[in-house]
Amino acid sequence: MHDQYHDRIRHPMLRARITSAAAAAALIDNGMTIGMSGFTRAGDAKAVPLALAERARRDPLQITLMTGASLGGDVDKVLTQAGVLARRLPFQSDPTLRAAINRGEVMFIDQHLSETVELLRSGQIAPVDIAIIEAVAITDSGAIIPTTSVGNSASFALLADKVIVEINLAQPLALEGLHDIFIPQHRPHRAPIPLMTASDRIGTTAIMIPLEKIAAIVITEKTDSSSTVLAADDDTAAIAAHLVAFFEREVALGRLTERLMPLQAGIGTIANAVMSGFIDSPFRHLTMYSEVLQDSTFDLFDAGKLDFASGSSITLSAARGEQVFGDFGRYKDRLVLRPQEVSNHPEVVRRLGIIAINTALEADIYGNVNSTHVGGTHMMNGIGGSGDFARNAYLAVFATKSLAKDGKISSIVPMVSHVDHNEHDVDVIVTEVGLADLRGLAPRERAQAIIENCVAAPFRQMLRDYVAAANRRGGHTPHVLEQALSWHVRYGATGSMLPDTDTEPSPTRQAMSISEGKVRMS
Ligand code: COA
Repeated sequence: MHDQYHDRIRHPMLRARITSAAAAAALIDNGMTIGMSGFTRAGDAKAVPLALAERARRDPLQITLMTGASLGGDVDKVLTQAGVLARRLPFQSDPTLRAAINRGEVMFIDQHLSETVELLRSGQIAPVDIAIIEAVAITDSGAIIPTTSVGNSASFALLADKVIVEINLAQPLALEGLHDIFIPQHRPHRAPIPLMTASDRIGTTAIMIPLEKIAAIVITEKTDSSSTVLAADDDTAAIAAHLVAFFEREVALGRLTERLMPLQAGIGTIANAVMSGFIDSPFRHLTMYSEVLQDSTFDLFDAGKLDFASGSSITLSAARGEQVFGDFGRYKDRLVLRPQEVSNHPEVVRRLGIIAINTALEADIYGNVNSTHVGGTHMMNGIGGSGDFARNAYLAVFATKSLAKDGKISSIVPMVSHVDHNEHDVDVIVTEVGLADLRGLAPRERAQAIIENCVAAPFRQMLRDYVAAANRRGGHTPHVLEQALSWHVRYGATGSMLPDTDTEPSPTRQAMSISEGKVRMS
């Protein structure tokens, strides 16, 4: 029986554990904590969670679900619709789940991606009962070879009581050898992570767990969901051009070489487009020490610009995915996938000197960045790894278009409505308008640099006036507090951050009047 799976399940005893997705899902009890593979739509368990949702429609149950990062295949959507998710961490990007989180129906714990398994390992959060891990194969010794992501899979498998493995026949066996599984020791006697360059291999190519923990094996054939990033446009091309010009200046000043430093790029359309911008740059022999490797990584390989890329997952568009995984030998020796606590490890990020390029929803005049909360209250995706990298980077860059929602929103505001990255962690802000280099600047200087370089024309004078009024009030980081979030309030009320000049006094005027004592503060 199951003879055809010899190359995928190499330990003969384990082939007897092949079962259906429904039978594997039956191992999950109400109230359990499940640790599942999956990182930015790559390498996620695909069959068992859907079978669990199917079961929950007949026989309701709720779980805590932990993953590496976001899932594809509508898994979060289907689980949400079936009412399975009581708690979810550490990241998501699904519109249906997002809406349930924002209705307060699913408790979402938005976490630095490097921290989840540290908390698990030290028993600070509920332990994992069952891990569900997608694999290309299980070795002779019963070790699990992950697919297109490592994420938190290794620690979930090690820490769980039982492991369900989904062997995905659609994932090419050529992925074997891509992974580098290194598990940091327990604290406080942990040795340093012995990673000295982005291309170092310090672990094993498979996840080693005791054979008896593998409780069920399910065969699947579904491909990863392709990435949803959009093509570069004029704005993202302009952002990339500003960054390239900035790095050229750094090279001319002797602070960087043409290799720059290892690059990390965030998720989404803007980060992908910015990385693609390096194709037409003078930089060479680049390396990436990043988290998600998107299309742009392979564009840079093909352009001969990139020597090596280290990440935790590979998430590609449909066309790029077909090409890359159809011809994986072309790239494999220049790639490694690591557990996310290693790819995002503060110690390594600081030591290697990473240039971290992440995306903001909004930034304020002092350089505080909001990456997660629309209007200060509503979750978008989560902080992901952006904080792991930004806080510890050689250089922390945040990119955003200066305008959102057809120009109704300024991405640069007087005060961010939620803070993910505070001014102390942010070195550079870049929009299509220009770039503000904030290094070594005090708050009053930062405000000037950001307003004069990054803000779209309709909002620039409004911010100049705001700052003038704030400065008259004084302080190290001056604000007109009762006006600081008025742009968000106005957007909520009218659908635009721009004032309706017919009916409303200019907010700037108002701020100036307040600061001049013409409006009494209650
Ligand atoms: N207020 C409200 N909505 C805003 C906004 C703002 N200030 N700025 C952008 N948006 C909306 C856009 O209109 C767009 O909405 P849509 O999906 O309805 O079209 C959406 O946010 C995405 O914006 P976009 O400009 O297309 O950027 P993106 O795809 O590059 O994503 C983030 C930007 C911030 C959402 C994304 O990068 C993210 O989730 N970051 C946090 C996690 C992270 O940084 N991880 C990286 C670590 S490796």
